[in-house]
Amino acid sequence: MPTYNLKINGKKQQVIVSEDTPLLWVLRDHLDLVGTKFGCGIGQCGACTVHINGNAVRSCSTPISVIAEKEVTTIEGLSADGTHPVQEAWKEVDVPQCGYCQAGQIMTASAFLSKNTSPSSDEIKNAMHGNICRCAAYNRIHKAVEVAATKLV
Ligand code: FES
Repeated sequence: MPTYNLKINGKKQQVIVSEDTPLLWVLRDHLDLVGTKFGCGIGQCGACTVHINGNAVRSCSTPISVIAEKEVTTIEGLSADGTHPVQEAWKEVDVPQCGYCQAGQIMTASAFLSKNTSPSSDEIKNAMHGNICRCAAYNRIHKAVEVAATKLV
């Protein structure tokens, strides 16, 4: 099996896995970064969202072989102490219910807001629509993205 040199949350990591291993399982099973969740496994729910070079990506459908020298950030690396503006907004709005999808929601929102700090309501809906929440906390998620945007300007 090939060896992959990775940069995850600013730290160099090395894993030996087959080339088609999804990034999600490298994170969870090999690096013990279990904040990234498995939902559907087919790129449809967003629970497994991480950043690759700052872009929100579904780790369940991203094979490790395409990561190469790219920078991967997981929910554990978004901030050292949970004080990223999006995380602060999430707490302020008290978004989570069961919590399962929240890491993916936050990673999608933070990638989106890094490129658009004053989004319209429709832009927020568009950015977040691929992240499913089975508790249907969509109104609070939307509100938290709005609040986070105010913290980023
Ligand atoms: Fe990756 Fe659902 S687990 S999109």
